[in-house]
Parts: sequence; C-alpha cells; structure tokens
Amino acid sequence: MSISSADIDSITSAALSAIEAAADLEALKEVRIAHVGDRSPIARANQSLGSMEVSERAQFGKVIGQAKSSINSAFESRQRVLEAERDARVLVEERVDVSIAAKRSLPGGLHPLTILTNEICDLFLGLGYRVAEGPELEAEWLNFDALNIPADHPARTMQDTFFIEPLDSHLVLRTHTSPVQMRTMLEQEPPIYVICPGRTYRADELDATHTPVFSQVEGLVIDKGITMADLKGTLDYFARAMFGPDVKTRLRPSFFPFTEPSAEVDFYFNGRWVEWGGCGMVNPKVLRAAGIDPDEYSGFAFGMGLERTLMVRHGITDMHDIVEGDIRFTQNFGSGLR
Ligand code: FA5
Ligand code: MG
Repeated sequence: MSISSADIDSITSAALSAIEAAADLEALKEVRIAHVGDRSPIARANQSLGSMEVSERAQFGKVIGQAKSSINSAFESRQRVLEAERDARVLVEERVDVSIAAKRSLPGGLHPLTILTNEICDLFLGLGYRVAEGPELEAEWLNFDALNIPADHPARTMQDTFFIEPLDSHLVLRTHTSPVQMRTMLEQEPPIYVICPGRTYRADELDATHTPVFSQVEGLVIDKGITMADLKGTLDYFARAMFGPDVKTRLRPSFFPFTEPSAEVDFYFNGRWVEWGGCGMVNPKVLRAAGIDPDEYSGFAFGMGLERTLMVRHGITDMHDIVEGDIRFTQNFGSGLR
C-alpha cells in the first residue's frame, strides 16, 4: 500500500476537526483514542514507513512527524480550553453558600440502660469474666425445668409469664436471665466465669417500680472450691462499683429452686435497704442436669434488675422515665459514646 502526502493531509485535517469538535473532556478522550491512539490512521501511516524505500522514508517520515506534532499540539490546546471550561463550571455548580443556616443533626446517644450494661460488662471483663448471651424467646425447658422450677410453680402461670402461641411450641419470653446459666453450662466446661446482661419479660403492670419489659444481669461462676464467701466478695465489689465505696450489702435467706442456699441481695443506700436481686450457690441438681459433677465443682449465681440499679443510683423515682424514651430524661446521662 502506498501512501501520499495528500493522504497525510486528509488524516491530519480529520483529526484537527474532530479535536475542535470535542465538546467536553470526555469526548476529547474518545477523539484521542481514535486519532492519536495506536490504531489511529496516523499511527498506521507511521507503521507503513517500514515498508518504504530508504529515500522515500526520510521524506515521508518528516511529513508524518509534522502531522503528528500539529495533531498533538491541537489536542493539548483543546485540552487546556476544556479544562478551563470545566473548572469554571464546577466553581458555579458546586458553589457553597456559607451564609445559609446550617441543618443541625443530633448525633444520638446510648440509652442510660445500655450505658449501665456496658459499664457492668467492663467491670466483670476486668475480673476475667466473659460476656454470654441467650435469646429473649426462650425454650420453656431452659427458662424453668432445667432450673429445677417445677411445673406447678406459680411463676409458670399465664398471669406471670408470656407464653408463645401455639402453646405446644413450649416457648416463653424469658422471665429472667437465668436460662443463660444453663446454656453456658451446657456448652462450656468449667471453670466458668460469665456475666449475662439482657432483656426479660413478665406479665407485670407498668408502675413506678415495675415494668413488663425489664433488664437483668446474671453472673455465674463454676469452679473448684467456690464458696458463699466468694459470692459475697463478688457482690460487694459489684455494689461498690455501682453505688460508691461506702455502700453496705446484706444477704437475706430466700428461695430459688436453682440455688441452694439462696438469698436476696439488698444494699443500704440513702438510709434504707433496697432489694437488688437474687443469688445463691448453684443447686447440685442444676449442675447435674448440665452434666457437671457437683462433687468436683461448685459455683454461685446472681441476678440483678438493671432498672432498679439505675433508679437507685440516679435517684429516679418513677420507672416510667426509664421506659418512655423521652430524650429530656436520657440526655441527663450523657451520650455514653466514647
Ligand atoms: C430472679 O429473676 C432470679 N433469676 C435471680 C437469681 C439469679 C437468683 C441467680 C439466684 C441466682 P427475681 O424474680 O427476684 O429473681 O428478680 C430479680 C430482680 O429483677 C429483682 O430483684 C428486681 O430488681 C428485678 N425485677 C423483677 N421483676 C421486675 C419488674 N417487673 N420490673 C423491674 N424489675 C424487675
Ligand atoms: Mg425477688
């Protein structure tokens, strides 16, 4: 194939007019590929130099070189023009009116109960405990039977517990966090040191000191040689962290089917004793149900109400304030975000 100066002229003028016609930088990029790229006419003309006679090659090489440089400089000047146009447009389109009133969005915060839960988990993590969790929709067996709560126990009536239909599903909204004890013992070998915070449900009316949806935190320790003294020491440490170094606690004999002996934990605050939760040494029957040998291991468990903890600690007199979610109340606790 032979190529003439006239061919080079027409290739050049086609390229120049395409460059001139490119309306924006995007279009110019396409033009560059078509008219300057490896497979463009001018590149092909350049390649054809190889098959020319030496005398012709020098002459045509010059023609092609000039054509390429005029195409390249047209390209560069068009590029500068289009960039300037784009910059001018961006300045107009992305203009920011700094005098417009700002839209303020509140960053949000954690509920005081969540802040308290995090604080308690941190405290026990510091003692080497692990955080364990279980479902709020719980098997009746784990919520009651496995914890040695007999079928005729008053807690198991519809008046106290939310059963899930159909009733033969044997599911309940857990009435305490104690089923997490059994879940943990079934899945982990002793030694066990866990803290289990979570939401719990009972068919109680909402009043100043009760709510049907409340929160508990459960502690469970199973190890060799654990005694009631370990339980008392742990509860004292917990109480001091919650209510200050001078708080007094007491254990009052009580009954829970899953602990033996059992006690209520009270603490003395602002001149009165307040019931905080239940506790005791894990009943050997419960250990056996979980496949743990009560001759080798013993343990303690406790379960506290978190709303009650918050109420006493912050002088909240009405449970409604905690459950209603009015931010004028919750803002007093800070956002809890660090
Ligand atoms: C229990 O739920 C036992 N599982 C506690 C326990 C755990 C005993 C481990 C032994 C070993 P009780 O029903 O007493 O116990 O409830 C514990 C705490 O939950 C109460 O002291 C109270 O602080 C809180 N609580 C119970 N019902 C409500 C309610 N309706 N509203 C707010 N807090 C409640
Ligand atoms: Mg009680």
